[in-house]
Amino acid sequence: MRKKSLQLVSVTRVISVLLACMLLVTFSVSAGPAAKDQSKAVSKDVQDGKKVAFSRKKGNCLACHMMAGGEAPGNIAPPLIVMKSRFPDIKKLRAQIWDAVVRNPESSMPPFGRHRIISEKEIDQVTAYIWSL
Ligand code: HEC
Repeated sequence: MRKKSLQLVSVTRVISVLLACMLLVTFSVSAGPAAKDQSKAVSKDVQDGKKVAFSRKKGNCLACHMMAGGEAPGNIAPPLIVMKSRFPDIKKLRAQIWDAVVRNPESSMPPFGRHRIISEKEIDQVTAYIWSL
């Protein structure tokens, strides 16, 4: 009798360990793709933003700003580097790109949002890209 109950205890132990393992596997499988999707979405914005920023027909930021990987940049504006430390708040960076005149009424930077030079979505993408520099 005592032996049987001991056996029962060890069987329940094995089963609970197995269940715990299954739960762990299910969680990591279900969390995996979601987490990946999110980082994919972020890097997609950064990639698209780079295209908008470099394109002469869109942002053309290189006309005035030096940016990593950009050829023959202009130098009438500050280089776009270490942006996170200069703009800890990404909203302020977006606001600068949307309308530079707010920070500097004499700014020669085109007000990309106010003049609808690029779309709101493109501004989001450019902001994500610039913030990654
Ligand atoms: C015609 C020139 C010109 C173009 C094109 C231009 N900028 Fe600017 N930008 C400036 C100037 C000049 C400044 C310096 C601040 C001021 O005068 O407003 C500036 C400032 C900035 C700043 C603030 C930098 C800091 O350290 O304070 C950011 C960010 C910025 N520009 C992003 C962009 C992005 C992104 C684009 C492209 C979508 C772009 N700029 C296109 C001229 C330009």
